[in-house]
Amino acid sequence: MPKVTFVKEKKEIEVPVGANLRQEAIKAGIELYPGLSKYLNCRGNGLCGTCAVVIKSGLENVSPKGFREKLKLFTMPFATIGHEDDLRLACLTQVLGDCSVETQPAFNWAGENFWQKPYPNK
Ligand code: FES
Repeated sequence: MPKVTFVKEKKEIEVPVGANLRQEAIKAGIELYPGLSKYLNCRGNGLCGTCAVVIKSGLENVSPKGFREKLKLFTMPFATIGHEDDLRLACLTQVLGDCSVETQPAFNWAGENFWQKPYPNK
């Protein structure tokens, strides 16, 4: 069974192959949602984006982004800066192997890719 490590919470759980990351996190008592979105979220329908997590390792061991997830992430540009590949919606992510996950990732306002000078050597 794949192991999912929640890095902030320092908790490791085992889940069945193909398990939904959001459901498994909730079962394990992990708080995916920041602030009031704990109560105000789309309940795993891929609409609100509040279940966003960063896959810190094992990105190859989770399901690829589907159209719906790509579309929702496209509407959250500040959240995805610097995490274009590894920011995922937990509710639309299936666990296929070992991975580690950061919940409630901070906005990357000072993202190295966003505020970088266009010509750093000049
Ligand atoms: S719970 Fe709303 S997008 Fe995942």
